[in-house]
Amino acid sequence: MKTPIYILDEIRLRRNLTLISEVARRTDAEWILAFKAFALWKTFPVVREYIHATTASSLWEARLAVEEFGAKAHTYSPAYKDDEFDDIVKLSSHLTFNSLSQYERLHARAGQCSIGLRVNPEYSEVGTLLYNPCAPGTRFGVTADKLPERLPDDIRGFHCHCHCESGADVLVRTLRHIEQRFDRWFPQLTWINLGGGHLVTRRDYDVELLVQTMQDFHRRWPHLKVVFEPGSAFAWQTGPLVSSVVDIVEDRGIRTAILDVSFTCHMPDCLEMPYMPAVSAGRMTEPGDYERLTKAVVCEQASDSGTQDGYCYRLGGNSCLSGDFMGLWLFDHELQVGEQVVMDDMLHYTTVKTTMFNGIQHPDIAMLRTSGELQMLRRYGYEDYRDRMD
Ligand SMILES: Cc1ncc(COP(=O)(O)O)c(C=O)c1O
Repeated sequence: MKTPIYILDEIRLRRNLTLISEVARRTDAEWILAFKAFALWKTFPVVREYIHATTASSLWEARLAVEEFGAKAHTYSPAYKDDEFDDIVKLSSHLTFNSLSQYERLHARAGQCSIGLRVNPEYSEVGTLLYNPCAPGTRFGVTADKLPERLPDDIRGFHCHCHCESGADVLVRTLRHIEQRFDRWFPQLTWINLGGGHLVTRRDYDVELLVQTMQDFHRRWPHLKVVFEPGSAFAWQTGPLVSSVVDIVEDRGIRTAILDVSFTCHMPDCLEMPYMPAVSAGRMTEPGDYERLTKAVVCEQASDSGTQDGYCYRLGGNSCLSGDFMGLWLFDHELQVGEQVVMDDMLHYTTVKTTMFNGIQHPDIAMLRTSGELQMLRRYGYEDYRDRMD
């Protein structure tokens, strides 16, 4: 197989979709796909078998919703641009404003869209600041103290996103805060969107707790239609990024296997989150191991025979960014130039975020069909790099 390549496994995608559509039924809520995490539109014929709508954050995502998914989007943008707004309205069924000032400036042009307002419950358990939408100074949503007692008549929904790869227990606690702060406006609404970050497809996710929580919520607020808009949950563990070792270098006892992929270009969350993928035949060292293994003497000895722990490498990207690496990793054998290194679970927040920085070859994207056939979805060439700056 030619590398680098992302491979989406249709069986695993369908497994996630089956679970999500079952969860939608049991929670009596609409579950829609957030394009920001996953937008491989050539898979939409499969996705459409299970869900009926998507969420967009920009004009182009809204176009994708209509032109490729075939349904108007639930749209939310941190700030709608005046010259894009009318097109976004045509492409959206629901339209959420991030601020009262945007609402005031634009709501009269929202046409048939059901209007929502993003609210900030000032509570999020997301530890990584980069992904915490409720951190002090956030630009997302309106806090309860800024809302008028009576909402404008055309506001039909609240939108609240404050999860990230979260479990149902986090939803239970967050919902308590949302209701404490905002429930006096609920009688004026017809829907509430509880955002993304609900990782229902993770093996340890407590689906029963989610179902119970939503049943209780519906009992308290029977008139409110509930929407969830996760992204990661759809593409969670649906396939790897397959790379190859191009060279192995060493400095001060740290050996780096340089791959034909780049963390900054093709797996940016690995540097931003940081998100640690599972690597074939390798395991991320424990925090305790890290210091021990970076000590030059250990790795120098390891260079021929390995330590009793295994063979220790940093994995390096092939861009010129100094920090384009992850590590350390322990492999059960000595890596060889040309050998494939498979990074698992690389389909969410990758293909939507990749760049062509440094002119590094973009990985191909393929889908492993249920029949076993590897269907190429996209191959990238030099022209793709050149024409971005055409
Ligand atoms: C407003 C909004 N909705 C949905 C999502 C999707 O979240 P996830 O992919 O973690 O489920 C995000 C992620 O940032 C978001 O900002």
